[in-house]
Amino acid sequence: MINRREFIGITAGVGATLGLTPRLLQALAQGQLLQRAIPSSGEKIPVIGLGSSATFASVARAEDVTALREVFKAMSAGGARLFDTAPGYGASEEVAGKLVNELGIASTMFWATKVNVAGRGGSSADPAAARAQIERSLTLFNQPKIDLMQVHNMGDPATQLNIVREFKKAGRVRYVGITTTFPNQYAQLIDVMKNEPLDFIGVDYAADNRDVEDVILPLALDKKIAVLAYAPFGRTSLFRRAANTPLPEFAKDFDATTYAQFFLKFTLSHPAITAVTPATSQAKNMIDNLGGGIGRVPTEAQRRQIIAFVDALPPAPGR
Ligand SMILES: NC(=O)c1ccc[n+]([C@@H]2O[C@H](COP(=O)([O-])OP(=O)(O)OC[C@H]3O[C@@H](n4cnc5c(N)ncnc54)[C@H](OP(=O)(O)O)[C@@H]3O)[C@@H](O)[C@H]2O)c1
Repeated sequence: MINRREFIGITAGVGATLGLTPRLLQALAQGQLLQRAIPSSGEKIPVIGLGSSATFASVARAEDVTALREVFKAMSAGGARLFDTAPGYGASEEVAGKLVNELGIASTMFWATKVNVAGRGGSSADPAAARAQIERSLTLFNQPKIDLMQVHNMGDPATQLNIVREFKKAGRVRYVGITTTFPNQYAQLIDVMKNEPLDFIGVDYAADNRDVEDVILPLALDKKIAVLAYAPFGRTSLFRRAANTPLPEFAKDFDATTYAQFFLKFTLSHPAITAVTPATSQAKNMIDNLGGGIGRVPTEAQRRQIIAFVDALPPAPGR
């Protein structure tokens, strides 16, 4: 386990780099990360998690995964425990399972992974392959149960949701969900949310990507479905849009000292959002992101201020 002294070691030097206030680092070290309840059970989870596609997945593919070990150390020391992954994210599940078990924090994690043998919607799933994929995730994490198993990208929900429910019934999966970040699958997601019992959904939601506010987030509130918010930075597009604009003064009104915290706090300020899972391959960014779950959350008026500010930013320049 990582103790407070180690956390201070991990953050040494990083605070100044990020412009993090000593008060924020102290709040993290004291475990003041906000928590929210999963509506179907009342169980509370920290609002900031860790995603594992994007840069995390590229480092996981490399020979040297030391940087990811540091990310997990920072994550755990700062009080976060939700890790979102998928068999489709290359070596992410495997490397995370190994690192987290080596660090001795595997049993404290909230493991969220996915089943996707049907691919991205459309084709039908082979039930035996779906069961085998879930078994593999359990083996890679070296855990008796997976906290959250979601059907990835609306792949044949009729088949795969039932298989996930079998695992839940057998006590090997705790929560059932479904994800998409493709607007052309939102109508199908809405249909499933209306007609199937779900504990969670996972959708893309960011300050400049707010389509899910129209129907999906209000429906999640109504149906008491927890929501994981994905791609809170639009991968890197929000950072690129803001690159030449100083963080606005009003960010301090809700305790955001960096752009990452500003964007994460926007996402978390929607009442339907249970947790947000930014991906990172760098401990310093993990610590920065944890700051998004400390202190005040934007009010409705501040949300409107953020939207007006972000809408006025220039488009993301090409890479
Ligand atoms: N359908 C699905 O189920 C689905 C779809 C999309 C996403 N997801 C989940 O949601 C997670 C997050 O979405 P995402 O990975 O697409 O995008 P994201 O979290 O919006 O952005 C990740 C990018 O932001 C950078 N970053 C992270 N923290 C930063 C910080 N504090 N300052 C500056 N840069 C920072 C990362 O680079 P560094 O490594 O350099 O920090 C990486 O390039 C995924 O990893 C995945 O777990 C699920």
